[in-house]
Amino acid sequence: MQPRIIRPLDERDTQAFLGLKQIGLSTDPDAFVAALEDDPPSYPDAVRERLSNAAVETGDVILGAFDPALVGIVSVTREDRTKRRHKASLHGMYVVPTYRGKGLGKELLHRVLALARAMRGLEEIQLVVASHNTQVVTLYEGFGFELMWTERRALKMGGRYVDAHHMALDLLKARGEVRATAGAV
Ligand SMILES: CC(C)(COP(=O)(O)OP(=O)(O)OC[C@H]1O[C@@H](n2cnc3c(N)ncnc32)[C@H](O)[C@@H]1OP(=O)(O)O)[C@@H](O)C(=O)NCCC(=O)NCCS
Repeated sequence: MQPRIIRPLDERDTQAFLGLKQIGLSTDPDAFVAALEDDPPSYPDAVRERLSNAAVETGDVILGAFDPALVGIVSVTREDRTKRRHKASLHGMYVVPTYRGKGLGKELLHRVLALARAMRGLEEIQLVVASHNTQVVTLYEGFGFELMWTERRALKMGGRYVDAHHMALDLLKARGEVRATAGAV
């Protein structure tokens, strides 16, 4: 059964967002660079502030799936600096285990990429995914993300390392557009 609502989160969703992040870090620690112990005491305030400013226009969108509790999230956040404004990252993709394999991840991706495409001047969306998470890598490839490079030992947890794929979706290529410049130097 599909959750009833997928919508952008706002500051009223702060506690639900923090709670789901905590669940995600315990069920799937390999999937996130963050660790709970990294969060400063001010983290909830920073999240509330972020959610209150989130919008296509500010270059930060956070979608949540509700049934009626929050069961899935994904974000696209654009780079702030002038020379990096053509890039954004997709991060914080998470669906609670009991809702997996029912199409919710695809729906969240589909919706968040549609919002990202509405960000004026955005050309590329990057993400980082654990290399061993092959089902998720395949999911991203299905949306046009390509492997750029692989980072050996990206995470270290206890005595265990996790390699990470850095993937990118070229929005111009996906639209069949040609870049006006001569390319990279
Ligand atoms: C990645 C994730 C968000 C996908 O959510 P989902 O709701 O299971 O996604 P969907 O149901 O749309 O399935 C998408 C693909 O995931 C894979 N999948 C299906 N069931 C799955 C399951 N129980 N567990 C993991 N992956 C599964 C399949 O390849 C599926 O593609 P297919 O339908 O063409 O076979 C979810 O597995 C998750 O939260 N994983 C842990 C956190 C994580 O790895 N996040 C990504 C960080 S980069």
